[in-house]
Amino acid sequence: MFMNRSNPAVEVMILRKNIKGINQRILVRGKKKKRYIHFDNAASTPALVPVLNDMSRFLEWYSGVHRGTGYKSMVSSRVYDDCHQVIGRFVNADPDRDSIIMVNNTTEGINKLSYRLHLKPSDVVMTTDMEHHSNDLPWRGKATVVYVKVDKDGVLDIEHAASIFRKNYPRVKLLTVCGASNVTGHVNNVHLLAEMAHEYGARIMVDGAQLVPHRSFDMKSHSDPRHIDFIAFSGHKIFTPFGSGALIGPREVFTQNPPDYTGGGTVKIVMKKKVYWSDPPDSDEPGSPNVTGTYALARTLTYLSRLGMDKLQEHEEGLTSYLLEQIGRIPGVELYGSTDRVGVVTFNIKGLPHALVGAVLCYEAGIGTRTGCFCAQNYVRHLLGLKENHEHLKLYDQNRNDKIPGMVRLSLAGYNTREEVDYFLQWLKDIVQNKYEFKQRYKFFIEQGSFAPVDFTGGSLVDKVYKRCMKGSVM
Ligand code: ALA
Repeated sequence: MFMNRSNPAVEVMILRKNIKGINQRILVRGKKKKRYIHFDNAASTPALVPVLNDMSRFLEWYSGVHRGTGYKSMVSSRVYDDCHQVIGRFVNADPDRDSIIMVNNTTEGINKLSYRLHLKPSDVVMTTDMEHHSNDLPWRGKATVVYVKVDKDGVLDIEHAASIFRKNYPRVKLLTVCGASNVTGHVNNVHLLAEMAHEYGARIMVDGAQLVPHRSFDMKSHSDPRHIDFIAFSGHKIFTPFGSGALIGPREVFTQNPPDYTGGGTVKIVMKKKVYWSDPPDSDEPGSPNVTGTYALARTLTYLSRLGMDKLQEHEEGLTSYLLEQIGRIPGVELYGSTDRVGVVTFNIKGLPHALVGAVLCYEAGIGTRTGCFCAQNYVRHLLGLKENHEHLKLYDQNRNDKIPGMVRLSLAGYNTREEVDYFLQWLKDIVQNKYEFKQRYKFFIEQGSFAPVDFTGGSLVDKVYKRCMKGSVM
């Protein structure tokens, strides 16, 4: 039986109070104004007010790092370098053995690693059938890529992983797997997989984009067989929308070969015919780095650690179970994935395009969700029981998002509330019953590639806010 405290923990309420824009109001059906509800946290989470305040203070001292001789540069360099360690500590990286490399996001981190491992075509990289494109495409063409299967609910087949290791020993150099899926929210037992990979002399890379924001993560000691060799994650999915992310892994991997991107900051000495590369992370952070984004990420992670990731997790898990239980009772709703997951719930409503459901939630209820394939087309196709279809390229080129198969996704974070979930559930019931004649009132607009109500009046609000954002206070 599901148990959810109707009063979330005080930590949750503190987090909620600190969300920038939490009370933002938007126009919905009947020209009414409502508070916007963000259920698209798996894509990006909002910023935190205390971190913005800290940033504002730091910006008084901001300057280019590492080679400046002014006071501001000295302060900024120290802050920037120390932030690496704060970020590493959040996932229990080893400060002596791991390099914490700042990148733009998880995708960049994985791409970087795919170059830095200097793989040969005969090497095997194991990825899985449940990955985001960002943990699949970067490996293609650099090694032989083998995919671990998933079952009909999208759960990873551990036995299949073991058989690939056995069959390809000792060619498997890396198992690269998501910590949690961005489609089903399914959480992988990465420490068990790490043990398996190490037994076969391979390393493990965890795409932490969807896991690190939701659960405490421990890379574990290098001497532990369950140690995670590499992890990448993004700031924008963990309340830091300032273009920073991290790739963390053993220092020696980043010292054996020249960096993938070279230039200023990556070198100690440059001669006409010889270059002495910097030590990591400098070797792998070419050009002027993202000092403010790194600072913001370190401050956010400090904030979350102090608040208590466990409290936020407990709340989010309760909310997710509640949502799953309730949504499963609505006739016509088809749910995807198993129940062991972070706060990601994907579904379809029988007979309604996913894009229409998303549009109704947006325009009528003021709820932000995401629809489509979530950059994981192979996984979504599998969950929907579909075969590959080259005709979909035509639909894509024609902007026919009403016809391309997909799903509707709700993704929660530690600050969402039971009231918000209940409000969503009521709207979902109304949609299923076509209560406000959505089917008749909505039209698919090919140019925008989306549905909208024919009597939509909110465009003026979008225009007004857009103009305000673009004008700002700049002359
Ligand atoms: N790939 C990100 C998501 O799952 C954007 O939403």
